[in-house]
Amino acid sequence: MKVTLSTDTVTDVRADLLAIGVRGSLGRDPYVKAIDKASGKQLSKVARLEGFDGSAGQTVRATPGGIKAKQVLLVGLGDGDVTVASARRLAATAARTAASFGTLAIALPDQELLNVRATASGAVLGAYRYTRYLSGDRAPKKELGTTKLMITGKRTPELREAAAAGVSLGESVNHARDLINGPPNDLNPITLAEFAKAQCKELGVACKVWDKKGIEKLGMNLLLAVNKGSGIEPRFIHMTHKPKGVKDAPKVCFVGKGLTFDAGGLCLKPPKAMLDMKCDMSGAAATIGIVLAAARLDLPVEVHAIVGSTENMLGEDAYRPSDVYESLDGKFVEIINTDAEGRLVLADALAYARELGAEFLIEHSTLTGACMVALGPWRAGLFTKDDELASRYLDAAGHEGETYWRMPLDDELREMLKSDVADLKHTGERSGGAITAGLFLSEFVGDSRFMHLDIAGPAFQERVHGVHPKGGTGFGVMTAIRFLESLVEPDEAAEDEAAQA
Ligand code: BES
Ligand code: MN
Ligand code: ZN
Repeated sequence: MKVTLSTDTVTDVRADLLAIGVRGSLGRDPYVKAIDKASGKQLSKVARLEGFDGSAGQTVRATPGGIKAKQVLLVGLGDGDVTVASARRLAATAARTAASFGTLAIALPDQELLNVRATASGAVLGAYRYTRYLSGDRAPKKELGTTKLMITGKRTPELREAAAAGVSLGESVNHARDLINGPPNDLNPITLAEFAKAQCKELGVACKVWDKKGIEKLGMNLLLAVNKGSGIEPRFIHMTHKPKGVKDAPKVCFVGKGLTFDAGGLCLKPPKAMLDMKCDMSGAAATIGIVLAAARLDLPVEVHAIVGSTENMLGEDAYRPSDVYESLDGKFVEIINTDAEGRLVLADALAYARELGAEFLIEHSTLTGACMVALGPWRAGLFTKDDELASRYLDAAGHEGETYWRMPLDDELREMLKSDVADLKHTGERSGGAITAGLFLSEFVGDSRFMHLDIAGPAFQERVHGVHPKGGTGFGVMTAIRFLESLVEPDEAAEDEAAQA
């Protein structure tokens, strides 16, 4: 989809659908007023008839005469200022409505650069559909071609750049969604690594991939243990975005769980629980999406993305409960439940990642059903002992409209990971399941500033919600990008102080 800037007015713009975000009262909205003037109040009449009052999330469609756009969509933004989250939601709603049309025009609620970027990204996100395996009548006949972002004043380079950045961000999230939605007979560790390599090549990002032999040489026996039951080789992926010509760039490392399918291994999942388990590489998809977005946006931050990828199956060589394996960093781990495979793959990946000496080590995974039970389908669990990191990350998330909740890492629960025969066992009890998973991971990060993000809920959706489509959502990418930007933005408080001094 193309995103352009348009200087047309709401009455002159040509589009199949014209979307307007309405703040507060309908009667005072300048766009609604202009269309009412041209159409003999048709727009506000329909809106009132439908009970539209501009509250957040409300929508109404109308076909007022006297304007060049074929249809108008009003989207309520609620009272208060326009935010990145509300601008993005407006554009996503508009693009979803127009997904099978030709052109969409969006009257920008304001021209703050970050909101323009959010609108562009929202349009790209809302237009997303996973159509690869739809044929015949089900194949989409038409898709959204162009989205015009309507601005007042000149098309400045800053506005153009903001729109382009929004498209890059949206596309990065959509790539992650494609990976998640890809069926597991198609998207496996090998094809996942191939995708990463191809994208990296296009963007000038360094990418190293280890095959099974390479992983054996590295000594990642926990990743290899999980892979034993699978007929498909594992892969270990390390991607690096190094900004050019930037001195002393902060360095951040992301790690992602890349289980392209999780049958549970010998501790087999029941059919219903297994059905969604193609989504078990959502952490990897987010991690790859983050480094690719960082490269596309040319962020002045060194960003590493590390993914351990395998299936968890039950072939004849499958690993067993009570097996013991030695991790990359030399800890003996007793296997308890073969369905707790993610933390094993991540343990080796984290032990590798910590050697990079990044300022922050941030890991995304669809790790536990327990976290989903605790927080519901839309919220991710955020686990870290680092208060500063937690608050910075929660700020970034609030800004982007992705929802996280800080969870504890209670040391008392470490008891549950004591093994009679090895250094550690890899699962605790049912109670506190999301926390003991986080504690297990913490054993492998040394003294890194580490954060574990359990995205089991928001990674994959049963129904459309906000900017999220059904299926893979690409959750995590936008917050991470905002977080990375916050590291290199001038500190406002310090600037104020300097100005006062
Ligand atoms: N991939 C699952 C967790 C999951 C569940 C993700 C639902 C998304 C939706 C993970 O590998 C798993 O099976 N975890 C077990 C751990 C248990 C055996 C200690 C779980 O949560 O039941
Ligand atoms: Mn599992
Ligand atoms: Zn899993």
